[in-house]
Amino acid sequence: MAVVWFAVLLLFTCREVFASYRDCSNIVEIRSCDECIRCGGHWCNDPYEFTRCHLDLADNWCQGMKESIPTDNDMAVSGQFFDPKYAVNSVRSGREHNLAIKYRSSESDPKVEYVVNSTQGSDVFVTKTTSCKDGSCTTTLDVSPETNFCSIKGSTHEYFNVKLNIQNVSEEAVMKFHVPCACACSSKVELMSPKCNGRGSLSCGVCTCDSGWSGTFCETPICEKKRGDVPCTDSARSDVECSGNGVCGPCDECVCFTDRLGSQYFEKDNFCADICMATNDCDDCFHNPMPGRCDFCHFPLIKQNLNQSLLEQKDEFNRNVWITCNDTLDGCHFEYVAMKANEETYYMVTKSCDPVEEKQVTGGVNVTLPIVLGIIAVVAAVAATAGYLVWKNRPPALPLNDPMYQNIGAEDCTGENPLYKPPTSSFKNPTYGKW
Ligand SMILES: *[C@@H]1O[C@H](CO)[C@@H](O)[C@H](O)[C@H]1NC(C)=O
Ligand SMILES: *[C@@H]1O[C@H](CO)[C@@H](O)[C@H](O)[C@H]1NC(C)=O
Ligand SMILES: *[C@@H]1O[C@H](CO)[C@@H](O)[C@H](O)[C@H]1NC(C)=O
Repeated sequence: MAVVWFAVLLLFTCREVFASYRDCSNIVEIRSCDECIRCGGHWCNDPYEFTRCHLDLADNWCQGMKESIPTDNDMAVSGQFFDPKYAVNSVRSGREHNLAIKYRSSESDPKVEYVVNSTQGSDVFVTKTTSCKDGSCTTTLDVSPETNFCSIKGSTHEYFNVKLNIQNVSEEAVMKFHVPCACACSSKVELMSPKCNGRGSLSCGVCTCDSGWSGTFCETPICEKKRGDVPCTDSARSDVECSGNGVCGPCDECVCFTDRLGSQYFEKDNFCADICMATNDCDDCFHNPMPGRCDFCHFPLIKQNLNQSLLEQKDEFNRNVWITCNDTLDGCHFEYVAMKANEETYYMVTKSCDPVEEKQVTGGVNVTLPIVLGIIAVVAAVAATAGYLVWKNRPPALPLNDPMYQNIGAEDCTGENPLYKPPTSSFKNPTYGKW
């Protein structure tokens, strides 16, 4: 057991080390101004410049578009003993900087002590050398913040202090070293920048692309499937691209229109097939004059008798719920309306050449209304007994072999499908909720 624990601990420690390590070995590959500056580099704001981060300022590189490195105003103040007693110097991480502090001392080799504190990591190398001559001493501080000095949250104005104490000198000397840990340009972000083709935000001349796009200017779509694998035309149906209901998108996948009649039913993964195409695939169902679920279809398709007042139904986006379709079957042309709700597709025949169907559509209601009302009453009673929950979680298929239905002729089925649930909140069934 002890061995296991040791291994886990070791792994964890290694991870910690790697997490905080900033790799500045390949500075020309850096694509972030902040990271460039933290590695001690110079940044180019020109997106067309190939090398964005350079350690040294090359002559012809990035003319006029270099990011200026934020500095503090360097200054030095002399004290009673020290020159300077207080100083502000700008340094870069990964670079060395010298600072000489002069003072008078009675000692020929005074003891020099210093402490360092900083707003960032403690990754600062400090060394000192002292030399004295004729009671006048100079202590030279050699400071170099490492490339790990800046944390990833470092700002433009980070710094560290070195406080000097010299033997037999009653004064303190404090040197402040300003280290830029972020670029000023990083705080300016242009959302949906035209430079990024409107598909990302621009900051320091770098596009951060929205999901689905990549490239320097967000010009390359990220396609889940390989381009060319997914055609935009359905060979089985027609040679019309995306069924005429969409356009071929950047990844060779159909992008369906959203502003067309019935566009809420366009099937993105099926060449933007509309609801009529889907239902027309289930030809056999139209032979069946019975209302209820059709078993000859590969998706739940449910027939309802025509209710004219439903045709005007709108959903919460003011779109037509019922879409007009037509089909020709055995030389008979007919029209119907279809809609989809809760993964189920409903249709009502509106015009048919079939006399039986036609009768249902136009004149059947009056003759059979009492029977229909009777059926509704029976179903209502059953539903009331079973309870509202059962009603909501009803089985998907209408039981066509239910003896109650088998006893009814086709012409009798003119009432509202008792198991039909209104598809949208905008439609109020007067009996709904009263049971
Ligand atoms: C760091 O050192 C400076 C100079 O001695 C001092 O003024 C400052 O309070 C110190 N900051 C912290 C956080 O210790
Ligand atoms: C049948 O439907 C198609 C496609 O929706 C439409 O173009 C055509 O006009 C319709 N025909 C009739 C007679 O309604
Ligand atoms: C038709 O639908 C409306 C709701 O829009 C409803 O009030 C009416 O009872 C339905 N008619 C028939 C015959 O089911």
